[in-house]
Formats: sequence, structure tokens, C-alpha cells
Amino acid sequence: MRNIIVTGGSRGLGLGIAERLATDGFQVIAIARSQTEVFDAAAQRVKAAGRGALQFHAADLADIEAIPALVKAIRKEFGALYGLVNNAGLGTGGLLSGMNDAAMAQLLRLNIHSPIALTKYVTRTMMTQKGGRIVNISSIVASNGFNALSVYSATKAALVGFTKSLARELGPLEITVNAVAPGFVDTELTSGLGEAGYDKIVRRSALRRMAEVEDVGSAVAFLFSDGARNITGTVVTVDAGNTA
Ligand SMILES: NC(=O)c1ccc[n+]([C@@H]2O[C@H](COP(=O)([O-])OP(=O)(O)OC[C@H]3O[C@@H](n4cnc5c(N)ncnc54)[C@H](OP(=O)(O)O)[C@@H]3O)[C@@H](O)[C@H]2O)c1
Repeated sequence: MRNIIVTGGSRGLGLGIAERLATDGFQVIAIARSQTEVFDAAAQRVKAAGRGALQFHAADLADIEAIPALVKAIRKEFGALYGLVNNAGLGTGGLLSGMNDAAMAQLLRLNIHSPIALTKYVTRTMMTQKGGRIVNISSIVASNGFNALSVYSATKAALVGFTKSLARELGPLEITVNAVAPGFVDTELTSGLGEAGYDKIVRRSALRRMAEVEDVGSAVAFLFSDGARNITGTVVTVDAGNTA
């Protein structure tokens, strides 16, 4: 079974992506600080379906210095790595002028520095086996403005730039690098939007609804399929037409 790391795979979009990839026959190693009941239930469903596997590895990805040892430990436990989904992220909002400096540093660290460092160590192992896939979870706010999300948007735009240049660097090694940009999806990260916020997003979307966790899982699963072997350096938007 091919191994794929999904960061932030304990809940929300990450868990949806992890369960979908496991159902497609991959062995998924979900990383988060703590295991959840929803994760355990998904792992049971995968086991019952008899294809793929859903594993959990606890780690704090904000601890950048520990990332080389983390990758080493995962390789030792599960074997060679075929894929990486950089999904873990914070959604800290706020008007820039009033943002707490420590919260801002934490946001930049988890949403930019950490996925870049993790990708560095994971691709080192992919290079030796020639072949692999990387998917970075960006957001529609990387290209469309949203009030009080300027720093978060900067982190998500950074991932798109990272995706495109890394795709050029790793293409000759048969490693694809793509980004998925979800619109607003109902998870813990967006719980602060409130009823009025959700209604506004639905009204502005071409399909008059919000994208769901499963939709993002499907897009990522496609990028890991044979059909996507010639797709690299792109951004796949999953937003029910919010930015159409
Ligand atoms: N929801 C949306 O509308 C939306 C839209 C566009 C893009 N996105 C992006 O999609 C990704 C997932 O969002 P979500 O809505 O699913 O968020 P979520 O429900 O808050 O889940 C975040 C995940 O990241 C993990 N995580 C947080 N801090 C971590 C740390 N220091 N070390 C390791 N893991 C950590 C969490 O587990 P622990 O807390 O246990 O560590 C959890 O598994 C994010 O990158 C987000 O920017 C979301």
C-alpha cells in the first residue's frame, strides 16, 4: 500500500481527505496534536470496508525543529512515502491593526513555515524512489479578498507560490505538486462565521450552497489518481462557484 501523510487529519477537511484517500486504497498517516473520536470512527469505517488504512501519528507541527525526526519516525514505522497533503492550518482572523503579534507569528509558523519544512524532508525521501504527489491546501482567499483575514490570506497565497515553483523543481523527478483552494466549508475553523456569514456566502455562490468536506476530499483524491499524472503546478478551486 502506498503511504500518504495528511496533516491536520484528525477532523474537518483533513479528516475528510484522509478517509477518502484511505477508502481509495492508500495507507494514510494522519498527523495532528490529538486523536479525536471522529477520527476513530472514520478509521473503523475504513477497516470495515477492507481497503486502505487510516493511521494516526501525534505531533505538534508548529515545532519546526522536530520535523526531520518526525519524518524519520514515520518512515521507520510505515515505510516509503508516496504522498503528502499539507492541510493543517490555523484560521486566525482579525483586523491587521489590532492583531496580536504572537498570534500572527503562530499563524505564519503553522500555515507557511511548517508545511514548507515538512515538504522539504518528505520530498528528500521521495527523490530516492522517483515519484510522488504533493497537495497543498490553500484557500479562495489567496486570490479573493475577505475582510479581517489579511494575514491568513497571505499564508494561503504563499502556498500557491510554493506549489508552482516546487512543481517545476520536482517535475523531472516525477513528483507532482498541486494546490486545492476550498471556499468556505463548515468546520471548526469557520465556526466563527455565524448564521449571517454562512447566508452571505451561500447567496454569493453560483450554486447557492457551500462546498462540503467530501467535495474537497474528491478533489484531492483526483490529484492522487492515475488520471492526474500529467497535472502539476495547478490550483483546483472547490467553492460551489463562490468566486466564479
Ligand atoms: N474550513 C474552511 O472553510 C477552509 C477553507 C479554505 C481552506 N481551508 C484550509 O483547510 C485546512 C483545514 O481546515 P479545517 O477547516 O479542516 O480546520 P480545523 O477543523 O480547525 O482542523 C485543523 C486541523 O489541523 C490540526 N492542527 C492544528 N494545529 C496543529 C498543530 N500545531 N500541529 C498539528 N496539527 C495541527 C488540528 O488538530 P489538533 O488541533 O489536534 O492539532 C486539525 O486536525 C486549513 O489549512 C485551512 O486553512 C479551510
